[in-house]
Order: sequence, then structure tokens, then C-alpha cells
Amino acid sequence: MRMTFSLSNIMMTRRIMQSKRSSSIGVTITLWLFGLHLICAHNVKSPTALTIKEDSGDLNQVEETQLEDEDPEDLEVFHPTNNWQTLRPGQAVPAGSHVRLNLQTGQREVKLGEEEGLKYWRDGNRQGMMNMQAPSFTAQELKEALKYFKEGTDDSSGTKQDEEEVRAKFRPIEELKKDMKALDMLIETDVQVMKRLLTQFNDSKSTSEEKVAALLDLEYLVHQVDNAQNMVSMGGMHLVINALNSTDVRLQESAAFVLGSAVSSNPSVQVEAVEGGGLQKLLTLLATQRPMAVKKKVLFAVASLLRHFPFAQSHFLKLGGGQVLAELFQTPGAEALRVRIITVLYDMIVEKELISQAGLDLIPDSTHQERLRQYAEVSLLPVLVEQGWCSLVPELLASSEHDWVEKALRTLLAMMAQCQTQYKQNPTLMASLNELHKQYKELALTEQDIGEQDGYFGEILALVDSMVVKMQHV
Ligand SMILES: *[C@@H]1O[C@H](CO)[C@@H](O)[C@H](O)[C@H]1NC(C)=O
Ligand SMILES: *[C@@H]1O[C@H](CO)[C@@H](O)[C@H](O)[C@H]1NC(C)=O
Repeated sequence: MRMTFSLSNIMMTRRIMQSKRSSSIGVTITLWLFGLHLICAHNVKSPTALTIKEDSGDLNQVEETQLEDEDPEDLEVFHPTNNWQTLRPGQAVPAGSHVRLNLQTGQREVKLGEEEGLKYWRDGNRQGMMNMQAPSFTAQELKEALKYFKEGTDDSSGTKQDEEEVRAKFRPIEELKKDMKALDMLIETDVQVMKRLLTQFNDSKSTSEEKVAALLDLEYLVHQVDNAQNMVSMGGMHLVINALNSTDVRLQESAAFVLGSAVSSNPSVQVEAVEGGGLQKLLTLLATQRPMAVKKKVLFAVASLLRHFPFAQSHFLKLGGGQVLAELFQTPGAEALRVRIITVLYDMIVEKELISQAGLDLIPDSTHQERLRQYAEVSLLPVLVEQGWCSLVPELLASSEHDWVEKALRTLLAMMAQCQTQYKQNPTLMASLNELHKQYKELALTEQDIGEQDGYFGEILALVDSMVVKMQHV
């Protein structure tokens, strides 16, 4: 009887991006043949375990191969269930089971197979690819190939005649490699995965849950520059922007999340998002009543869209973005978002300042001139003054969170030139600064006591003192 073994229990893991942005990463699926246990099921009572052990997908770099005819009593057969269970060394997995590599523990996990095809899985910060449908090799074929493999690497074993016999009878390793290549072809590229996700998302028959799941998987992929750009060319940006004003808040939230990640440090995608009307839709979401979870992701998307993108920034101002943020800042229940809002403004102020400062010691080239010109069009500070930010930002000083206070102080200092008059007329601000001076002086001292000279509290104290000095400056 010819029994086949499905390679479905070969685990494929996706190399996790180390640095968030690297355009050089194209198709990044790495095949790790981490381990392959199979049962020769031609006789259930006397199974044979074969183990290929490798630490890379390259069959040339095999470090160890084993071929063992194990005693049936020695072989422990693993019984998968519907839940992932950790596989112990030496346990054999029935064909058709799903096996994945847990990237945190380095252990393999097994469950019953029920799905078909390739599956991208994600569980917290662990992720990978699973192959559910792979070509079948006969157990005998694999065994023979492995035996040949062993003969080839181990000169001491077997006679020359044995070897020739093996060569004549068994499939050469090149063929096995070919089979492995065929398997490799079955791994979806990122583009294919994104196509599938977009189709799932765009399918009117998909449930909301399925659509949200597709968006979240997409979000993971678009961190890569190339993937985000491919998503745009596949029409995905258009779908995501449309989803921003879906009637389902979970879709709004996930769409904003995808958008924010896709545009992060990705200028060409930023352009597409703004030209596709994304900014307008995001601001509408911020300006209207929405759950906080939605607003939080929308704010993330707005911040990513504006960062290092003066065109979007002037667009933001023209669309009344500053006003939208000022209203959100004052909305009861949105306190948790306040520091994020301030951060968006602070980043824009500082960005523009740094650009003009950089111009002082650079030999001006045309790109720099163009950037200066674009930033010159972003007339942020006068707008912020008009919208009342000189008195809104000081409200954050009452926060008990040190980093909120720090961010507020930095923003206040960044707005000093435009806001100084208003600061001086704000008695609450003066009182807060005095209070903060006392508080952080004490904290800075405790910091010094434990040997930290340039500690965090000392830094905040310096900001407080700088505020006091600069406010009095004429
Ligand atoms: C989404 O579906 C619509 C209608 O079925 C179709 O016209 C459009 O091309 C699809 N978009 C994408 C990106 O798949
Ligand atoms: C989405 O926005 C468009 C234009 O901005 C509008 O025509 C449409 O009615 C909106 N849909 C929902 C569900 O809010």
C-alpha cells in the first residue's frame, strides 16, 4: 500500500522585521525547515520516524541528518487536538496535522488540521505562515532520499557497493531539492497575501469580523515600505479610505490603523492618502461623535500622515485641523487623548524649526530650497494662537503623568514667541510653574541622591525653569 505523507507539518515562518522600515525587504518569506517528523503509516503498528534537522532552509547547510528505525514502543505518537499544543522532541506527528513554530519559545506546536491552503497566523506578537496544502511525498521516497543523504555525508558507513546500490535505487538529493522548491513556490509572497486580504475585505459576502481580520493582517504587512506601495497600486488605499466612514465603528478603527501604518515614513504613500481624500475623512471622524478607540487610531493616522509632509500639514490647516484638535482637546471624556494631540502639534512646530535651522549650515541645494518653500507655506503657529492653544496647552501641566507635563512644557516653550503675552496674563500658568518647580526640584534631588546627575526629573525641572525665565524675558 502506498501511503503518503503530507508535508503540511512543515512550518514556515516569516522573518520578523527587525527595523520597521526597510525598503530592501522584498519578498521576505523564509522557509525554515525546522523539523520534520513523520510517521510511515504503512503499518501503524510499526511506525518509522524520520527526522531531518536543519537550522536553515538551505539543504546544502544541513548539519545533521538522522535516519532511525525506531522501535514501535519507543515512538510516542502525538495526538493533536483542536488547540495548539507544544510538541516534545521525539514525538511523531500524524500526517495532516498543523505544526507551527512558536517564535518565542522555539518550540513547535501542533493541532488538528482542518483548514486548507496557506494560512497566515498571528497571535499577539508571534506570527508565521502555515502550509495546509502541500505536495505529498511518499514516505518511502523521503526515507530513501534521506538515506542517500546520509550515505553522502558519512563516508565511514556502508561499502562502496552499498553506496552504488543506493545511488541506483534512490532518488538523488537534487530531486528532493526540486520538491522542496515546489514547496517553496507554494508560499505566498506578500503581494499575494495582500491581494487575498484585499479581496476578502472587499467581498460583500465577508462578515464584519472577516473584514476587520483582513485589515489587521494588512496592517502588519504595510509596515514595509514596498508592501504599503503595493497596497496602493492594488487599489487598497482607496478601499481603506472608504472604510474610514463605514457604518461599522470597528471597520473605521481598523481602517485608520492600516492607513496610519501604511503612511508612516512612506512619502509616496502619504501623497496617495492625502490625494485620495484620507485626511479629510480622518478629520471628519475626529470632529464627530465616535468611540474613543476609533479616535485614538484616527489620531495616530493623522499624526503619521502629517509627519515630515508639509503638503499634508498645510492641507490640514486649510481643512481646519487645528480647530478640530482644539475641540477634541476640550471634549469631556477625551482626556486620555490630550497628550497625543499636543504631540501632533509639537512635532509639527519642531519639524519646521529644525528644517529652517538646518538651512543655516547647509549649502542650500534645490531640494532643501523646495522643502523650505513648502514649510514656509505651513503657517502653523499663528493658527494655533488664534485657536486658543496658548491657554489650552497649560491645562496639561496639571497632569500627574510626568511625560505629559514634560510634553506640555516642551510645547509651551516651542510656542513661546507667539504666546508669551498670553502666558504672562495667565495667573494659573504662573502658579502651576511655581508648583512644578518645587515638586521637580525635590524629585531631582532624590534622583541625585541615588547618583543620577542628569536624571529625568532634573530635565523636567530645567524645562520649568526655562519657561519661567523666558516668560519674563522682554
Ligand atoms: C472591490 O469590489 C468592487 C466591486 O465588486 C470592484 O469594482 C473593485 O475593483 C474591487 N476593488 C479591489 C481593490 O479589489
Ligand atoms: C462617507 O463619506 C462620503 C463622502 O465623504 C459620503 O458621501 C458618505 O455618505 C459617507 N458614508 C457614511 C456611511 O458616512
